[in-house]
Amino acid sequence: MSKLELGVCYYPEQWDPSLWRDDAAQMVDMGLDWVRIAEFTWGLIEPERGRFEWGWLDEVIEILGEAGLRVMMSTPTAAPPKWLVDEHPEILPVGSDGRVRGFGSRRHYCFSSDIYLAEARRIATEYARRYGQNPHVGAWQIDNEYNDHDTVLSYSDAARQGFRRWLADRYRSINVLNETWGTAFWGSTYSSFDQIELPNGLVASPNPTQSLDFRRYSSDRVRLFNKAQADILRDHSPGRDVTHNFMAGSFEFDHHDVARDLDIVGFDSYPLGNLLGSGLSEQEKHRYLRTGAPDYQGFHCDLYRSQGRGRVWVLEQQPGPVDWAEKNPSPAEGMVRLWTWAAYAHGAQAVMFFRWRQAKSAQEQFHTALFRSDGSPDQAAIELKQIVQDRVALPPAKRDKATVAMLLDYTSIWAADVLPHDDDFPNAQIVREWYAALREMGVDLDFVGPDDDLSGYTLIVLPQSMIVSEKLASRLAGSQAKLLIGARSGSMTPDMHTPSNLAPGALADLTGVRVLRVESLPELANETVLFFEKTSLAFTGWREIVDTNQEVIGQFISNYRDGSPAVIRSEKATYLAMVPGQELLRQVLQNALEWSGISPADHGPDLRITQRGGLGFAFNYGTSALHLPTCDRRKILVGSDPVMPRDVTVWNEVGPLDQTAAK
Ligand code: GAL
Repeated sequence: MSKLELGVCYYPEQWDPSLWRDDAAQMVDMGLDWVRIAEFTWGLIEPERGRFEWGWLDEVIEILGEAGLRVMMSTPTAAPPKWLVDEHPEILPVGSDGRVRGFGSRRHYCFSSDIYLAEARRIATEYARRYGQNPHVGAWQIDNEYNDHDTVLSYSDAARQGFRRWLADRYRSINVLNETWGTAFWGSTYSSFDQIELPNGLVASPNPTQSLDFRRYSSDRVRLFNKAQADILRDHSPGRDVTHNFMAGSFEFDHHDVARDLDIVGFDSYPLGNLLGSGLSEQEKHRYLRTGAPDYQGFHCDLYRSQGRGRVWVLEQQPGPVDWAEKNPSPAEGMVRLWTWAAYAHGAQAVMFFRWRQAKSAQEQFHTALFRSDGSPDQAAIELKQIVQDRVALPPAKRDKATVAMLLDYTSIWAADVLPHDDDFPNAQIVREWYAALREMGVDLDFVGPDDDLSGYTLIVLPQSMIVSEKLASRLAGSQAKLLIGARSGSMTPDMHTPSNLAPGALADLTGVRVLRVESLPELANETVLFFEKTSLAFTGWREIVDTNQEVIGQFISNYRDGSPAVIRSEKATYLAMVPGQELLRQVLQNALEWSGISPADHGPDLRITQRGGLGFAFNYGTSALHLPTCDRRKILVGSDPVMPRDVTVWNEVGPLDQTAAK
């Protein structure tokens, strides 16, 4: 199935049943294949413990299925019913301020609650028994957006008890924990696991290993919760794909881990909703206010495709203005279509639009949909027509493995949160910036986690891998790839200790670098790097003073240790002793690609080009027409050359490729 499939998120429970049949017919008429339903229906299906009202949902599924749609059913655990909360108030999550988060919206459960886990298993089993063999049900979504509304970390009593058990299991002896956490520091030694508290509400910063362990523990609880339901669905609904919808820019739990238990990784795509809160500059936010960042779709689809072993679906696509960001602009006309094809180009197998019809009561009334609340088509419905037409013109194509991989490690991101040193340390933002800069050069990427297969890549980049185990270092050394390693990498052991050989720890042999000191500088410091003795370019405030016996290809220009190494190259690895600013990053990446035998292109800020099998895709996020790079023979299937503003061009490579970029 490599043609794009289309779908919609539908909330029949919010509408009069007299509309259901017409809605279904219209969905089919519009070319939709899938309809996702029921993720918030627990309180309606089981209005009191043990009493089930399945009738209406049976009917909905029947209507949708008979109309020709495939149903993605959901387990409803993202919204436990009121009676359950009243019965067991201890299932509620607790914020880091110690306040219990109450009933009345959603996600009001704590991942640490074993009572809730048992209830989630029970209700998932009920749903799976009821619909697992239903011929219209083709796939399942578990729960909804695990970290939505910041609900991965909870500071409840259940979390305290669960954390203690997790620690006892990990360390076995309290002395080992004391040793590993370094509790001699400030005399915070423990004599039993039962004494350990959660790392919130303290006077000063908590113990870093404790904080990191709490992040690991919380992530493990998400995995446990997800797997419990995945197992139930596989038992009762064999042959159906199981998915969960991951969010954008989300690093709160280890997505590599959770994805292992899914057949498809889902992604909820809100390019404008996520723009203003992103790490882009004000200038870029202005430029992309109505398009979203040009690499938003690519970054997430590539990441989740890699985690999904080739299978990613967009389970919610922004259709117009959302209602939950600080400001909620309208997308430029054409953007819903552009986002849809960008998702497909980066590997998505299906795109589902959020939502069918705009709500006319309760929360989210200002959130747009395919149709307005009165049933009239909104802009996204118009663009959907065009998407369906485009689809006819495109032969099936499957995304190939890339030659460049980006290593993304969630534990490293937590580690830099726990011990930032620099309040503005860009952390996960570094990963997005490297991705964007590489994409601007036309490079297609895969993502890898620390445990993934590293074979077959020409270049592996590690933008921010603060924690590198000996095992990962030796797998990197054994890979055929050249390595580009960002600052701070390997600076902590998995126990959150300074490595005995100093940073970059396990990467020392590979890089030939020893970090003697780190410092963080305010913007006003204005220090720069001389790269290949050519230009002096800005870096962010993070700087390392290193010792090396390898080639120095960039030096700091500073009134402090002027000329100290900033970019160091060994045979296998290039190490950055700072976090480069935009232009320096571009030059470093360009140089690293050439060093790895890949010729970078330069498509400029607004044009993105990528390859899905034999199909080339170009996306224009700008306001003027942009030409495609020259190519001997290319047959355009959709759009034109030049690529029009906010438009898409798709072609078939029918001759030798142009020499612009790595595939
Ligand atoms: C998502 C969520 C949906 C809906 C949507 C609105 O985060 O999964 O249920 O609330 O946002 O944009």
